[in-house]
Amino acid sequence: MRDLSSDSSVQRVVLMFSAQSGKTEVGLNWLAWIIDHSPGPLLAVQPTIEMARRMSKQRLEGLIEDTPRLKEKIAPARSRDGSNSMFAKDFPGGILLLTGANSPSQLRSAPCRYLFMDEVDAMQEIPGEGDPVALAERRTTTFARRKVLLTSTPTVKDFSKIEAEYMKSDQRKFWIPAPCCGEFQHLEWSRLKWEKDKPETAQYQCKHCGERFDEHHKTQMLAAGEWRNHSHFDGKTAGFHLNGLYSLLAGPAGANWLRTFCVRRTTQRHCARLSTQDLLRLTRRTIQHRSAQRA
Ligand SMILES: Nc1ncnc2c1ncn2[C@@H]1O[C@H](COP(=O)(O)OP(=O)(O)O)[C@@H](O)[C@H]1O
Ligand SMILES: [Mg+2]
Ligand SMILES: [Zn+2]
Repeated sequence: MRDLSSDSSVQRVVLMFSAQSGKTEVGLNWLAWIIDHSPGPLLAVQPTIEMARRMSKQRLEGLIEDTPRLKEKIAPARSRDGSNSMFAKDFPGGILLLTGANSPSQLRSAPCRYLFMDEVDAMQEIPGEGDPVALAERRTTTFARRKVLLTSTPTVKDFSKIEAEYMKSDQRKFWIPAPCCGEFQHLEWSRLKWEKDKPETAQYQCKHCGERFDEHHKTQMLAAGEWRNHSHFDGKTAGFHLNGLYSLLAGPAGANWLRTFCVRRTTQRHCARLSTQDLLRLTRRTIQHRSAQRA
């Protein structure tokens, strides 16, 4: 969030996080901060118009409704003067436009100082115009104090837009102190160990002392963590990476790392129907795939 504020010289922030890790939430918080503290023209892009509509209705409107400082600045949608709708929110000093990456005319229109593009790996190339991220970013170039937020769960390696953007950034990873020896490290899939055919025994092996520890330490570890860059900062782009091992959503107590991981990959319902054998097979295959790709 610090790099998204006007105190920071960073122009582009790249979040490569696992699914359900709060990426959209970060974007919404940022939009709210802009409207209240640093207004300007603002464009928020979801992969499709339909997703933009859902985001507006299910999350943005609730945020405005529950936040007095926003509520007093943004007239209710469908108000009589017609200045606000599902896809446009007028506020003093700026306007928030919401659109889908499948709407090139919107991506090309008025210049904007702030750009939030959510789930860029789910955005399709536009026939004849190419990459929607590049197209939308061109709209920000006239602003010296521009800010661009790109988020996504990474898809296929070498085809992933967010991964390409992350590789161009200063490549920050979240380092956390291990409960065994206190040494800082970032979490890697390949260090997750378990007994053959027993996913419930999954533990994380410390990179420094080799001891194994359980998932319930994670809440404390995360609270004591810090971002460290793994590449040179070019003065413009800050990149942040969190894989599914960092997720807390499955509940810290008693949750099993391996099962958490499986739930991340599939839907909860689908996962519940799998036998332990299937679960192991699926998880092992995905972990091997992931670690081969992301080592
Ligand atoms: N800081 C937070 N504290 C508690 N719940 C959160 C927080 N951030 C996000 N959530 C919730 O977690 C879920 C996933 O967040 P979301 O932003 O949609 O993730 P993503 O965009 O990465 O898939 C949502 O239901 C959201 O309301
Ligand atoms: Mg999201
Ligand atoms: Zn250790």
